[in-house]
Amino acid sequence: MAAHTVGRVARPRSYLMCPPDHFTVDYSINPWMEPGRPVDTPLAQAQCTALRDVLRGLGHRVELAPPRPGLPDMVFTANAATVIDGRVLVASFRHRERAGESAAFERWFRLRGYRPVRRAGEANEGEGDHLLAGGVILAGHGPRSDPGSHPETGGYFGRPVVALRLVDPRYYHLDTALAVLDGREIMYLPGAFCAESLNRLRDLFPDAIEADDEDAAVFGLNAISDGYHVVLPAAASRLAGRLAERGYQPVPVELGELLKAGGGPKCCVLELRAGPGPSRPGPS
Ligand code: ARG
Repeated sequence: MAAHTVGRVARPRSYLMCPPDHFTVDYSINPWMEPGRPVDTPLAQAQCTALRDVLRGLGHRVELAPPRPGLPDMVFTANAATVIDGRVLVASFRHRERAGESAAFERWFRLRGYRPVRRAGEANEGEGDHLLAGGVILAGHGPRSDPGSHPETGGYFGRPVVALRLVDPRYYHLDTALAVLDGREIMYLPGAFCAESLNRLRDLFPDAIEADDEDAAVFGLNAISDGYHVVLPAAASRLAGRLAERGYQPVPVELGELLKAGGGPKCCVLELRAGPGPSRPGPS
């Protein structure tokens, strides 16, 4: 699908999602999670299905990994792996509560024919902390991924890694504080980064949208962009206005049930950047 405005073109993408059939909040590994607070699993399922339909409606392919009982955060597939040029680096989770997801997702990638598939050696929470901007991998670290994982990530994908230290516990994955809109155009929350990382971002992306706390607190930066459409939480209406001024088309979605676990739209999708050639997985 080729929706455009002046200079903005949507490129079709492939995403992996996982239905939240076993979604609950029974443990707390980020400040948003309050075990004991009721979670409406059917509502979470409906919100995820709506997100899937929005993405398909925009012309993107969405594949589904089977959810596993006992792994309530599997819905956040952004943390499953990083996939670039068809190469898969499966996550190694910081917290034991999510550790079982690695084997489940690794199996999915192998069965789907991805090669090569490697399990990260150090704490590395996949695309939640590794966003591709132009040719560069922006790598969040601190709360979850370990900076010791960066040489492996850079070497495996043959790309430079820009390390960004996250300092606000509410924004514990890079994709909660920064979104890549198109190529080297990004939006982010300055206060989520240490001073040195912030200088680096300002140097590399002088035209970025700097979001404010209100935008970030409703997970407005947890957005999915295809270069033109930007899918983001409906509550982030001011940020949506700023995106529209820049020629993007904001697409609001409601994922409030997932926010109880500290997740938003981007957390629920992993981009499958398949490489050319015979190892490219077929359509679902
Ligand atoms: N409850 C999950 C966790 O704390 C939420 C993960 C959100 N994922 C993301 N890519 N930000 O790990």
